[in-house]
Amino acid sequence: MDDASLFRTAADALAGDGWCMLTELLTPAQTRALADECMSLYAARQLAPARVVGAAHAATELRGDRTQWFDPAAASPPQRAFVARLDALRMALNRELMLGLVKCEAHYAVYPPGARYARHLDRLRDSDARVVSAVFYLNEGWQEADGGALRLYLEDGAHRDIHPHAGTLLLFLSARFEHEVLPATRERLSIACWMRQRPLDAAGEDVPA
Ligand code: OGA
Ligand code: MN
Repeated sequence: MDDASLFRTAADALAGDGWCMLTELLTPAQTRALADECMSLYAARQLAPARVVGAAHAATELRGDRTQWFDPAAASPPQRAFVARLDALRMALNRELMLGLVKCEAHYAVYPPGARYARHLDRLRDSDARVVSAVFYLNEGWQEADGGALRLYLEDGAHRDIHPHAGTLLLFLSARFEHEVLPATRERLSIACWMRQRPLDAAGEDVPA
């Protein structure tokens, strides 16, 4: 599928169901370069325990992943390739849906075996800045028996389990879908991203932790 069709399909799905999956955003080689970089950073202990606002004590029970934010000023070549594709998608969504998405923020995340992220909504501190959530998965050879699905809670009370296969991008409207990450039996790598409708404001709202 060419980019115009791919992005239009995504926009139609977001306007309709509010979520969709894309498997053609990056090539397998680009995905592998991100997976290798994420694993190296993790092995070198460059990823830090994710913070949960207001839950300092039991934080790892709510959320056991380790993260590193992408720094636009120091992006590696694989990160630049990823961000360029995500920005192309963001601009297509702006054109098709008039969303006014001004930027993307992204972080690597590694969930060690057994780690989870309890059911939550991707909106921070009463801010409506995050409009579209995008999670890109980096795990080659993932089996359903490995666990680690993202469970997306639909508005009719049903849910969908999305497995974190390398190359899958899950997109959903941040305000609409609660979701959780189920524990896995192996390390689970992803890039979590948000398309924002305003830049970071001067008061420091939503400052990446
Ligand atoms: C998040 C999140 C999902 C995933 O970081 O907010 O929900 O599948 N991540 O990694
Ligand atoms: Mn989330």
